[in-house]
Amino acid sequence: MTSLHAETDENLIDSPNTFLTDVLKGLSEVPKTLPSKYFYDAEGARLFTKISRLDAYYPTRTENKILSDHIKSISEAIGPNKALIEYGSGALDKVRVLLSALQNPAALVAIDISREQLRIATKILASDFPSLPVYPMAADFTGPIKVPKMPKTVEGKVAFFPGSTIGNFAPPEDAKLLTAIAKTVGPKGKVLIGFDLKKDSTRLIKAYDDPQGVTAAFNKNILSRINRELNANFIPSLFDHVVRYNSTAGRIEMHLESQIEQSVNVTGNIFHFTPKETVHTENSYKYTIDEFTVLANHAGLSREAVWSDPDQLFAVILLTAKVDER
Ligand code: TRP
Repeated sequence: MTSLHAETDENLIDSPNTFLTDVLKGLSEVPKTLPSKYFYDAEGARLFTKISRLDAYYPTRTENKILSDHIKSISEAIGPNKALIEYGSGALDKVRVLLSALQNPAALVAIDISREQLRIATKILASDFPSLPVYPMAADFTGPIKVPKMPKTVEGKVAFFPGSTIGNFAPPEDAKLLTAIAKTVGPKGKVLIGFDLKKDSTRLIKAYDDPQGVTAAFNKNILSRINRELNANFIPSLFDHVVRYNSTAGRIEMHLESQIEQSVNVTGNIFHFTPKETVHTENSYKYTIDEFTVLANHAGLSREAVWSDPDQLFAVILLTAKVDER
């Protein structure tokens, strides 16, 4: 027996029209940009899972270690009979640790933009936790999310937002997203977030520019995806994967840099690239624990507990949604 519910679609962005509009808009900007949420088609999701296992990419394994080392205090702080809502559930690896330790988890809502990965991962998870109601939601969580109706046994919602995905949102979108998450869990609901800590820039850059070139392939896959799904003629090998640490903004930036002067046709729209011109494809913000606490406070969330690893590479924070006093 499994309690896997039918998949719901919410404001999915994989319709060719939304994708085309966003790509044309980004490539018309100066400097050119592409929204990082489009990294995650089936191939992008596969490459990202590969990145998460790289030696150079410390965040995934460090976060996993923090979760398992502190699982007892984390699950006590969360409490019994909660519905977990995971934002960007990916391969659904991390939530297993939580589900195994929580007292009577009442439901899991798994939200992910990559529909194929979501389908496979929720099926496997539901068969490993046969009495847990699992609700897959193929959705872009930057838009409004309507959480499915859940069993009566649920006593409160807990959003789980791991992977430092919050770092991929620049201000003011970061605070807007956290405010929306606070609203989804409701007053006194809880939010468990993983975020990457500020550290030596050499270490940071290496995590996004691994010697095996997996991250480079992941970055360039967005161009191949545009070719596959829109009518476009990018030659991904004529772009270089470029990673910078912007210390003023406190963020890693990923860019695709044109090697030569070239023109690209996207559904009849011509985009011109000068040599070394870049397309900015992603930001990954790094925080101190205090900076993150301030950000969360702005979004109506107060800090309950923080866990970190001995090397202070990564942090997991538990927040509670404030009761609206207005
Ligand atoms: N949230 C992850 C991060 O910022 C996403 C990520 C890791 C990523 N490596 C990447 C995104 C490489 C694009 C390219 O660390």
